[in-house]
Amino acid sequence: MAKQWGGRFEGEPDALVERLGESVSFDARLAVHDIRGSIAHATMLGAQGIISKKDARAIVRGLGDVEKDIKAGAFVWRQDLEDVHTNIEVALVERIGDAGKRLHTARSRNDQVSLDVRLWTRDQVDRIIELCRALQAVFVALAERHIDVVLPGCTHMQHAQPVLLAHHLLAYFEMFGRDRQRFIELRKRVNVMPLGSAALAGTPHPIDRKQVAKALGFDAISTNSMDAVSDRDYAIEFCSAAAIAMMHLSRLSEELILWSTPEFAFIEIGDAFATGSSIMPQKKNPDVAELVRGKTGRVYGDLTALLTILKGLPMTYNRDLQEDKEPLFDASDTLQLCLAVVMRMLPSIRFNADRMRAATRDGFLEATDVADYLAAKGMPFREAHEVTGKLVLYCIRAGKTMPELSLDELRQFSVLFAEDVIGSLAPEAIVRRRATLGGTAPSQVRAALRRAKQAL
Ligand code: ARG
Repeated sequence: MAKQWGGRFEGEPDALVERLGESVSFDARLAVHDIRGSIAHATMLGAQGIISKKDARAIVRGLGDVEKDIKAGAFVWRQDLEDVHTNIEVALVERIGDAGKRLHTARSRNDQVSLDVRLWTRDQVDRIIELCRALQAVFVALAERHIDVVLPGCTHMQHAQPVLLAHHLLAYFEMFGRDRQRFIELRKRVNVMPLGSAALAGTPHPIDRKQVAKALGFDAISTNSMDAVSDRDYAIEFCSAAAIAMMHLSRLSEELILWSTPEFAFIEIGDAFATGSSIMPQKKNPDVAELVRGKTGRVYGDLTALLTILKGLPMTYNRDLQEDKEPLFDASDTLQLCLAVVMRMLPSIRFNADRMRAATRDGFLEATDVADYLAAKGMPFREAHEVTGKLVLYCIRAGKTMPELSLDELRQFSVLFAEDVIGSLAPEAIVRRRATLGGTAPSQVRAALRRAKQAL
């Protein structure tokens, strides 16, 4: 077991304290970012004359070698060295000797860890932005392929009005568009350079923070050292955006699960994304969608964990902050996996257009249009609503659908009904009339598709 940092300690840490305090088992994945940050820091120290140029060069070269070892899987991570930062620093000193001991000049692990996590998060944000975009493109392709399909649109899970399947699919295009936007937005707040804050108060060394920020591609530099070492807002924002995106994936999953029941039979999910049962030979279960729905819970948990870890922290760095990483990593991994899987599952789905069209016969989807018809002929809408309600009741009792009623039958309820009502109640006709901006009319959905392609 390693001795504590520096000369202050004579005793060894308790064995359980090491297990409690180590983070290398999960923060080792920050290694590449830690090394990138250290290279920028050492280069700056050399350029500013804080350490010799020769030492700076040795550090940069040594860190490059350590990185090679890590990437080759040849690096031995030591839990007794606590975290990724110390592991790499100790390995550097083992390699290059005393020059390596100068790397930590004008730096603390407090600003170092924040730097690493910000660099790591920025990379994940960029990947997620691209994944959201790609998923949006899948919805556009699906919508284009099913532009003629109508199905019942629901509110309260009850048949409401007919809609185009393409319109329904493009609703998800909008959701994942907002998710993409959220990650683009929060990237600005992730991409702030904390190094130079040192432990909490800044450093007396004449460092050049701008140089480091430029070398690492940061857009901004933190302006309060105390805030910088204790701020994890960016991680919370990340988890929050991830939770919202998972919520969208979960809603989609729920719908796919429902639609693949025999009661709906609107879709069949491809074999590659369904599973069988160990006992019931007939089963084809939508496990992938269920898992995505289930994993939404853990990402909510990640967000809740982060919020809770932070809520009681006085200024500035507190070791509690080490607990930020696992929820952050988990939220990122889970979201990226789920986005990628859903993106592959969607094109495997066979949409049953006949079933969807047939379902529009049930549930009086044309009722609003009947009321609108009467209102257009001059009847006050409230009255038209009442008359149409009575018509619905008549149909239920007679076991008929509205389009099956003869003009004579209709005229028993209102003399305003005329020839033009016949044929106006087909789902395609109903859909066509909803041509307001953002409505489900084919003209509007085509316009939405054009906008969508432009946005991608
Ligand atoms: N592993 C630590 C963390 O993730 C690094 C910073 C440790 N700083 C300290 N003063 N103990 O937060």
